[in-house]
Amino acid sequence: MTDPTDLAALAGARVLITGGAGLIGTALRSTLARAGATVRLLDNLSAYESATLALLGTGPLDPDLTVGDSADGDLVRALVADADYVVHAAAHSTVQGCANDPATAFRSNLAATDTVLRAVADTPQVRRLVLLSTAQVYGNGDPGADPGRPRVFTEDAPVRPLNLYASAKTWAEFHTRQLLAPAGREFTVLRPFSVYGPGQVPKPGAPSWVIAQFSMYAALGQQLPLNNGGRQVRDFLYLDDAAHGIAHSLLAPGAAGQTLNLGTGVTTSVRQVAELVCWHYPAAEIVDTPRPAQDPLGARADTTRMCQALSWRPAVSVDQGLTRYVDWIKRTPEAIPHWLRAETTEGRIAAWNPAAPARA
Ligand SMILES: NC(=O)c1ccc[n+]([C@@H]2O[C@H](COP(=O)([O-])OP(=O)(O)OC[C@H]3O[C@@H](n4cnc5c(N)ncnc54)[C@H](O)[C@@H]3O)[C@@H](O)[C@H]2O)c1
Repeated sequence: MTDPTDLAALAGARVLITGGAGLIGTALRSTLARAGATVRLLDNLSAYESATLALLGTGPLDPDLTVGDSADGDLVRALVADADYVVHAAAHSTVQGCANDPATAFRSNLAATDTVLRAVADTPQVRRLVLLSTAQVYGNGDPGADPGRPRVFTEDAPVRPLNLYASAKTWAEFHTRQLLAPAGREFTVLRPFSVYGPGQVPKPGAPSWVIAQFSMYAALGQQLPLNNGGRQVRDFLYLDDAAHGIAHSLLAPGAAGQTLNLGTGVTTSVRQVAELVCWHYPAAEIVDTPRPAQDPLGARADTTRMCQALSWRPAVSVDQGLTRYVDWIKRTPEAIPHWLRAETTEGRIAAWNPAAPARA
């Protein structure tokens, strides 16, 4: 973990986190509070049930939380008026969630982003806005790349979003630059890779948080479905590391105006995740399943620019972080949602691989 004194310049600073009651927002709040910052959260509490919010240390009675929508201009302007830094983390934050409910995706990922950016553009005392984009803007990367070589995403690579979630984030990146640069406001765009850690509770119908899902399946004695033999790779970033990276991006002079990957630079296959989970749950059973079309092939982050700009690098390896996650599930079995307990492997495969529509 980063030495908290590295963040000492945040002592006394007022930080607004939109989407602050979510996974990353609550972790960031703890990191910033330890550094002595005053943190305000804005969240419409749309992502999680109250039991999960309680596990994340928040909920409607949280004194630091304003329950409201990031697309509400009056509310956002009032909160930004009291902020020295803004982290825009609010989003309808899963690929499948955006596909299933595009109206909410438009409101929360496009309209709300516009609202937050315009408020920051009009508020000179805001020292910097950090936008949480996503590594999904890279899509599957260069289609001409050698399939035999490890895949690496570098910030200068073309963006190739594959879905509404990633397209909206791509738009948000450009919009941040287009609104804040002419207004003279500092900003940093971060592209987090796969964030995981204690407190993470999967969302229904969103097969993307594989460490959390496999750990919960194994804890329940359910099978671990390995799509495509688990050959897809991810760059898994431990939650505390993600929070520290974001906190550093508020301060680091070299991060101003930059677009930065937020990852470890380490490639882990989904099969390796399943094997690590099986080490903790020796009775767990792996089954081979087809790869859903929307399941990205994945890559690791090129972290060169991130390390230089932030003078920081993540500290937690995937086996350390996964062990901490499993320990949390063992201590907190109530974190496993009811809908996940009720699912079957067959039902999951059918949901992730909808039959092709019949031809007329
Ligand atoms: N978790 C990851 O692996 C990951 C990876 C890449 C990028 N990101 C991005 O980081 C950010 C935070 O991710 P997270 O994992 O904490 O997601 P999360 O879903 O846990 O948190 C997002 C929060 O935003 C809130 N929200 C949604 N719409 C809102 C609105 N209109 N107004 C106010 N609040 C709203 C939700 O209630 C939720 O609490 C998101 O923008 C996400 O797209 C996350």
